[in-house]
Amino acid sequence: MTETKAPLKIGSLTLHSRVLQSPLSGVTDLVFRRLVRRYAPDSMMYTEMVNARELHHLRQMAYVMDVDPQERPISIQLFDCRPDFMGEAAQKAVAQGAQTVDINMGCPVNKITRKGGGSSLLRQPEVAQTLVQAVAKAVDVPVTVKTRLGWDDNEINILDFAQRMEDAGAQMLTLHGRTRAQGYNGSARWEWIKQVKDKLSIPVIANGDITSVEAAVQCLEMTGADGVMCARGTLGYPFLVGEIDYFLKTGQKLPPPTVRDRLECAKDHLRGLWEYKGQKGIFQSRKHMAWYCKGFPGASALRQKLSRLESVEEGCDLLDQAIITATESPPSTSSLREGCSMIIGCI
Ligand SMILES: Cc1cc2nc3c(=O)[nH]c(=O)nc-3n(C[C@H](O)[C@H](O)[C@H](O)COP(=O)(O)O)c2cc1C
Repeated sequence: MTETKAPLKIGSLTLHSRVLQSPLSGVTDLVFRRLVRRYAPDSMMYTEMVNARELHHLRQMAYVMDVDPQERPISIQLFDCRPDFMGEAAQKAVAQGAQTVDINMGCPVNKITRKGGGSSLLRQPEVAQTLVQAVAKAVDVPVTVKTRLGWDDNEINILDFAQRMEDAGAQMLTLHGRTRAQGYNGSARWEWIKQVKDKLSIPVIANGDITSVEAAVQCLEMTGADGVMCARGTLGYPFLVGEIDYFLKTGQKLPPPTVRDRLECAKDHLRGLWEYKGQKGIFQSRKHMAWYCKGFPGASALRQKLSRLESVEEGCDLLDQAIITATESPPSTSSLREGCSMIIGCI
């Protein structure tokens, strides 16, 4: 199995955690990353994916590239299929503080694949190689790639594709163990991650269904991957990356957060979004609040109220009342975990 206590080297960058927080569009903004980092200070975080083509036409920096000056380690993820746009965007990303630039070659969304970006690059390996080369030439920081197994079950080409990415200069590969056709359904096929890990010299990070300490350990054992990346398991549960990191470093499990901990965290999230984005942040907070409110008595009624949230005061009042109730009747920890599985099932 992977030596989980040793640092992870991505080219010239050394990370002191082998657990990474994935890029999640509409989720991993600066406020969310701050919460995850509270419990996982050594872990690499990713911005939401940034459209390099759009950035080229923008006069100012895209707000999805906002990074706290003290935020470390941090990567900015870019997508497009034009090497010139990607090189230019990578330079802007580094100016924003990115310590690595990640290229999205896994997004399954039609709007993006139709324009040649995301997972459609799996079908154009030469273009994908050119992108890695162009970005590596444009910046001094390591360039990394996040991708999937292939377009569909008839076109699983990851073994050849991953090798090409390494040859083109990628310094790390994150592999989501699903095809583009799978979207986010079915199980992630970690057996493919093992095959890729066995083939490449650069670090390989396993992604897909890393929803608990147990899943992370099982995946690392099965694949020999250099690390794991958490995604949907962190929705409404910013504790996950820290929980896994702590276990890999110490062999001990942290006590699970209580309902009170989770609701306090939800309140911080809500306040953070309000301070950072104003009323737009309140609207965006509705989905996050729903994700937090799972697996405890009264969660469903609270979720319904929070899904119509209009102001930060209203949200904090609702959460404060729920905290009082939860403190009076603590649920079993298994119901919290069930809450997390329910979120994954819902996306
Ligand atoms: C809401 C949502 C947004 C996502 N946004 C991105 C993104 O911006 N960039 C990216 O590379 N992957 C994105 N992904 C994919 C995840 O990073 C991850 O690869 C995928 O969810 C598999 O991991 P999981 O099974 O643990 O969720 C997104 C997934 C979801 C559910």
